[in-house]
Amino acid sequence: MEYRKAISTFDLKKMKTEGEKIAMVTAYDYPSALLADQAGADVILVGDSLGMVVLGYDSTVPVTMDDMVHHSKAVARAAKRCFVVTDMPFLSYHGSLDRTLANAARLMQEGGAKAVKMEGGREIADSVKACVNAGIPVMGHIGLTPQAVHQLGGFKLQGRQPEQARKLIDDALALEQAGVFGIVLEMVPEELAGLITERLQVPTIGIGAGRLCDGQVLVYHDMLQYASPLKPKFVKAYANVGEPIVAGISAYVREVKEGAFPGEDNVYHMDGSALEEISGLYAGAKRGE
Ligand code: KIV
Repeated sequence: MEYRKAISTFDLKKMKTEGEKIAMVTAYDYPSALLADQAGADVILVGDSLGMVVLGYDSTVPVTMDDMVHHSKAVARAAKRCFVVTDMPFLSYHGSLDRTLANAARLMQEGGAKAVKMEGGREIADSVKACVNAGIPVMGHIGLTPQAVHQLGGFKLQGRQPEQARKLIDDALALEQAGVFGIVLEMVPEELAGLITERLQVPTIGIGAGRLCDGQVLVYHDMLQYASPLKPKFVKAYANVGEPIVAGISAYVREVKEGAFPGEDNVYHMDGSALEEISGLYAGAKRGE
């Protein structure tokens, strides 16, 4: 089997320095992570977007620590080369630093994550620092921060106005100062993502943030059109796996109804003598006799 070295935060930094783009994709279970790893993704994000694309919620707010640990475990078992980052869910890194550390530790010790991701700017710098000081790599996430969707008034582009853009640049610098190894920029204008990217030593990973980031991330179910509820403009569909899945299940349903499945190829038989013996035992003893 071909040996492929596991990716680390150092490799991600080097990729930025050397101008090699970083490819990150979300995954939430063993098969999706296995396929992402095989396909050569550099980073797998166990995103709390699983709340929407896997669990059917209309936002990421209801996602719990237990949900994240459960899915992260499955991904970590599959990822051999990919660097696995797991999202800290809604309000799991606010309040006391002790609680933040305990939650981040769970994602690493139980969930098998190599790093955690937190949404927010300078207001979460203390949480970032506490984790980094404890040896937990942290990825930042600014711009559209979906856990704050009800505060932001929807899944909207962020940083279009100069004041908002300046705040995002300052947030990025504060997160870098706090020790993040990378920052996700979600739904910001390409020009702003470029300004942030050129000011940082650590890589930026964009989603709906244009071409000037150091890498890109897409949600597995969106990019593969796998029963994804969202079709934002920034998503490119690289496959439509939903269609063959529906076609396959429809054909199965039809064959079951018609009695065409299972066919001779799909059944097991008894050998003749065993069948004779059991039939003899029950001869004349049909139901009710
Ligand atoms: O939860 C998630 O999938 C994310 C990406 C959108 C970056 O945070």
